Amino acid sequence: EIKVLAISGSLRQKSSNSALVNAIIALAPENMKFTIYGELGELPHFNPDLDVEEGPAPVEGLRTQLKDADGVLICTPEYGNGVPGVLKNALDWVVSSGEFMNKPTAVISASPSPMGGDKAHASLLLTLNMIHAEIVDGGTLMIPHITLKLNKEGVITNPETKQELQSVLKGLEQACYKNRTHSHNPPG
Ligand code: FNR
Repeated sequence: EIKVLAISGSLRQKSSNSALVNAIIALAPENMKFTIYGELGELPHFNPDLDVEEGPAPVEGLRTQLKDADGVLICTPEYGNGVPGVLKNALDWVVSSGEFMNKPTAVISASPSPMGGDKAHASLLLTLNMIHAEIVDGGTLMIPHITLKLNKEGVITNPETKQELQSVLKGLEQACYKNRTHSHNPPG
Protein backbone atom coordinates (compact mmCIF):
# COMPACT_ATOMS: atom_id res chain seq x y z
CA GLU A 1 0.00 0.00 0.00
CA ILE A 2 1.18 3.49 -0.91
CA LYS A 3 0.44 6.55 1.20
CA VAL A 4 0.16 9.90 -0.54
CA LEU A 5 -0.25 13.30 1.04
CA ALA A 6 -2.24 15.59 -1.26
CA ILE A 7 -1.89 19.35 -0.90
CA SER A 8 -4.07 21.92 -2.64
CA GLY A 9 -2.49 25.34 -2.81
CA SER A 10 -5.89 27.03 -2.70
CA LEU A 11 -7.90 27.79 0.43
CA ARG A 12 -10.97 28.66 -1.64
CA GLN A 13 -14.13 26.70 -0.88
CA LYS A 14 -14.85 25.99 -4.54
CA SER A 15 -11.23 25.67 -5.60
CA SER A 16 -10.58 24.01 -8.93
CA ASN A 17 -7.25 22.74 -7.60
CA SER A 18 -8.95 21.08 -4.64
CA ALA A 19 -11.37 19.61 -7.20
CA LEU A 20 -8.37 18.19 -9.05
CA VAL A 21 -7.10 16.59 -5.85
CA ASN A 22 -10.51 14.96 -5.41
CA ALA A 23 -10.56 13.85 -9.05
CA ILE A 24 -7.19 12.17 -8.68
CA ILE A 25 -8.31 10.42 -5.52
CA ALA A 26 -11.39 9.16 -7.37
CA LEU A 27 -9.18 7.76 -10.15
CA ALA A 28 -6.65 6.19 -7.79
CA PRO A 29 -6.20 2.42 -7.59
CA GLU A 30 -7.01 0.61 -4.31
CA ASN A 31 -3.38 0.37 -3.29
CA MET A 32 -2.95 4.15 -3.18
CA LYS A 33 -4.29 5.75 0.00
CA PHE A 34 -4.58 9.52 -0.10
CA THR A 35 -4.73 11.93 2.79
CA ILE A 36 -5.76 15.50 2.02
CA TYR A 37 -3.63 17.96 3.93
CA GLY A 38 -6.05 20.23 5.74
CA GLU A 39 -3.98 22.69 7.74
CA LEU A 40 -2.44 24.95 5.10
CA GLY A 41 -4.39 27.91 6.51
CA GLU A 42 -3.45 27.06 10.11
CA LEU A 43 0.31 27.18 9.67
CA PRO A 44 1.94 30.23 11.27
CA HIS A 45 3.93 32.51 9.01
CA PHE A 46 7.38 31.09 8.60
CA ASN A 47 9.80 32.58 11.09
CA PRO A 48 13.22 31.01 11.68
CA ASP A 49 12.94 32.05 15.35
CA LEU A 50 10.03 29.59 15.68
CA ASP A 51 11.84 26.90 13.68
CA VAL A 52 13.07 25.01 16.73
CA GLU A 53 12.64 21.50 18.05
CA GLU A 54 9.04 21.06 19.20
CA GLY A 55 7.95 23.99 17.08
CA PRO A 56 4.34 25.14 16.60
CA ALA A 57 1.85 22.25 16.56
CA PRO A 58 0.64 22.74 12.96
CA VAL A 59 4.27 22.72 11.81
CA GLU A 60 4.95 19.47 13.65
CA GLY A 61 1.76 18.12 12.08
CA LEU A 62 2.88 19.04 8.58
CA ARG A 63 6.30 17.48 9.11
CA THR A 64 4.84 14.27 10.53
CA GLN A 65 2.35 13.91 7.69
CA LEU A 66 5.07 14.44 5.12
CA LYS A 67 7.39 11.99 6.86
CA ASP A 68 4.67 9.33 6.92
CA ALA A 69 3.85 9.75 3.23
CA ASP A 70 5.47 7.65 0.48
CA GLY A 71 4.71 10.43 -1.97
CA VAL A 72 3.22 13.89 -2.30
CA LEU A 73 0.76 15.40 -4.76
CA ILE A 74 0.56 19.18 -5.05
CA CYS A 75 -2.18 20.95 -7.05
CA THR A 76 -1.77 24.69 -7.09
CA PRO A 77 -3.18 27.86 -8.57
CA GLU A 78 -1.04 30.85 -9.53
CA TYR A 79 -1.42 34.21 -7.82
CA GLY A 80 0.34 37.28 -9.14
CA ASN A 81 2.55 35.14 -11.40
CA GLY A 82 3.76 33.14 -8.42
CA VAL A 83 3.14 30.33 -5.95
CA PRO A 84 0.31 31.14 -3.50
CA GLY A 85 1.76 32.52 -0.28
CA VAL A 86 0.15 29.84 1.88
CA LEU A 87 1.78 27.06 -0.15
CA LYS A 88 5.20 28.71 -0.24
CA ASN A 89 4.87 29.29 3.49
CA ALA A 90 4.31 25.56 4.06
CA LEU A 91 7.38 24.71 1.98
CA ASP A 92 9.47 27.27 3.87
CA TRP A 93 8.71 25.32 7.05
CA VAL A 94 10.30 22.15 5.67
CA VAL A 95 13.44 23.58 4.08
CA SER A 96 15.49 23.04 7.24
CA SER A 97 13.78 19.84 8.41
CA GLY A 98 14.15 18.00 5.10
CA GLU A 99 10.95 15.93 4.85
CA PHE A 100 10.88 16.38 1.07
CA MET A 101 14.30 14.79 0.62
CA ASN A 102 13.91 12.08 -2.08
CA LYS A 103 10.15 12.20 -1.69
CA PRO A 104 8.36 11.34 -4.94
CA THR A 105 6.34 14.44 -5.70
CA ALA A 106 3.84 15.18 -8.46
CA VAL A 107 3.13 18.79 -9.34
CA ILE A 108 -0.01 20.09 -11.03
CA SER A 109 -0.99 23.68 -11.64
CA ALA A 110 -4.36 24.77 -12.97
CA SER A 111 -5.66 28.10 -14.09
CA PRO A 112 -8.56 29.60 -16.04
CA SER A 113 -5.89 31.27 -18.19
CA PRO A 114 -4.41 29.68 -21.34
CA MET A 115 -1.03 29.43 -19.53
CA GLY A 116 -2.12 26.88 -16.94
CA GLY A 117 -0.26 28.57 -14.09
CA ASP A 118 3.11 28.07 -15.74
CA LYS A 119 4.93 30.64 -13.60
CA ALA A 120 3.70 29.15 -10.33
CA HIS A 121 4.51 25.70 -11.67
CA ALA A 122 8.08 26.66 -12.56
CA SER A 123 8.61 28.48 -9.30
CA LEU A 124 7.27 25.55 -7.30
CA LEU A 125 9.69 23.23 -9.07
CA LEU A 126 12.58 25.55 -8.20
CA THR A 127 11.69 25.31 -4.53
CA LEU A 128 11.03 21.55 -4.61
CA ASN A 129 14.35 20.93 -6.34
CA MET A 130 16.12 23.04 -3.75
CA ILE A 131 14.75 20.84 -0.99
CA HIS A 132 15.64 17.70 -3.00
CA ALA A 133 12.15 16.42 -3.65
CA GLU A 134 12.10 13.71 -6.32
CA ILE A 135 9.98 15.22 -9.06
CA VAL A 136 8.10 12.28 -10.55
CA ASP A 137 8.76 11.34 -14.19
CA GLY A 138 5.54 12.15 -16.02
CA GLY A 139 4.25 13.68 -12.80
CA THR A 140 4.16 17.33 -13.82
CA LEU A 141 1.11 18.84 -15.45
CA MET A 142 -0.17 22.32 -16.24
CA ILE A 143 -3.88 22.58 -16.92
CA PRO A 144 -5.06 25.67 -18.83
CA HIS A 145 -8.71 26.74 -19.10
CA ILE A 146 -9.53 24.77 -15.98
CA THR A 147 -13.02 26.31 -15.67
CA LEU A 148 -14.03 24.61 -18.93
CA LYS A 149 -12.89 21.21 -17.71
CA LEU A 150 -15.02 20.71 -14.62
CA ASN A 151 -18.69 21.10 -13.83
CA LYS A 152 -20.42 23.13 -11.12
CA GLU A 153 -20.01 20.29 -8.64
CA GLY A 154 -16.26 20.32 -9.21
CA VAL A 155 -16.24 17.03 -11.11
CA ILE A 156 -13.65 16.86 -13.91
CA THR A 157 -15.66 16.32 -17.07
CA ASN A 158 -13.00 16.77 -19.76
CA PRO A 159 -11.84 13.30 -20.94
CA GLU A 160 -8.40 14.53 -21.97
CA THR A 161 -7.84 16.07 -18.54
CA LYS A 162 -8.95 12.83 -16.90
CA GLN A 163 -6.41 10.95 -18.99
CA GLU A 164 -3.67 13.38 -18.03
CA LEU A 165 -4.53 12.99 -14.35
CA GLN A 166 -4.47 9.23 -14.75
CA SER A 167 -1.02 9.45 -16.23
CA VAL A 168 0.27 11.65 -13.38
CA LEU A 169 -1.20 9.14 -10.95
CA LYS A 170 0.58 6.26 -12.68
CA GLY A 171 3.89 8.13 -12.58
CA LEU A 172 3.46 8.85 -8.89
CA GLU A 173 2.55 5.26 -8.09
CA GLN A 174 5.60 3.91 -9.93
CA ALA A 175 7.94 6.44 -8.33
CA CYS A 176 6.65 5.57 -4.87
CA TYR A 177 7.20 1.83 -5.43
CA LYS A 178 10.66 2.39 -6.86
CA ASN A 179 11.57 4.66 -3.99
CA ARG A 180 10.49 2.01 -1.49
CA THR A 181 12.56 -0.68 -3.13
CA HIS A 182 15.63 1.50 -2.73
CA SER A 183 14.79 2.59 0.78
CA HIS A 184 16.56 1.03 3.77
CA ASN A 185 13.52 1.44 5.85
CA PRO A 186 10.52 0.70 3.66
CA PRO A 187 7.33 2.08 5.16
CA GLY A 188 4.62 -0.44 6.03
C1 FNR B 1 -5.53 35.12 -9.78
N1 FNR B 1 -5.50 34.23 -10.84
C2 FNR B 1 -4.33 34.09 -11.59
N2 FNR B 1 -4.25 33.13 -12.57
C3 FNR B 1 -3.11 32.98 -13.26
O1 FNR B 1 -3.03 32.11 -14.12
N3 FNR B 1 -2.02 33.77 -13.02
C4 FNR B 1 -2.03 34.73 -12.06
O2 FNR B 1 -1.03 35.39 -11.86
C5 FNR B 1 -3.22 34.91 -11.31
N4 FNR B 1 -3.28 35.84 -10.31
C6 FNR B 1 -4.40 35.93 -9.53
C7 FNR B 1 -4.43 36.83 -8.47
C8 FNR B 1 -5.53 36.92 -7.65
C9 FNR B 1 -5.53 37.90 -6.52
C10 FNR B 1 -6.64 36.07 -7.88
C11 FNR B 1 -7.85 36.12 -6.98
C12 FNR B 1 -6.63 35.22 -8.93
C13 FNR B 1 -6.69 33.45 -11.19
C14 FNR B 1 -6.65 32.10 -10.54
O3 FNR B 1 -5.95 31.23 -11.37
C15 FNR B 1 -8.07 31.58 -10.36
O4 FNR B 1 -8.75 32.38 -9.42
C16 FNR B 1 -8.09 30.11 -9.96
O5 FNR B 1 -9.40 29.63 -10.05
C17 FNR B 1 -7.58 29.91 -8.56
O6 FNR B 1 -7.47 28.53 -8.28
P1 FNR B 1 -8.55 27.73 -7.45
O7 FNR B 1 -8.91 28.52 -6.22
O8 FNR B 1 -9.75 27.55 -8.35
O9 FNR B 1 -7.91 26.43 -7.12
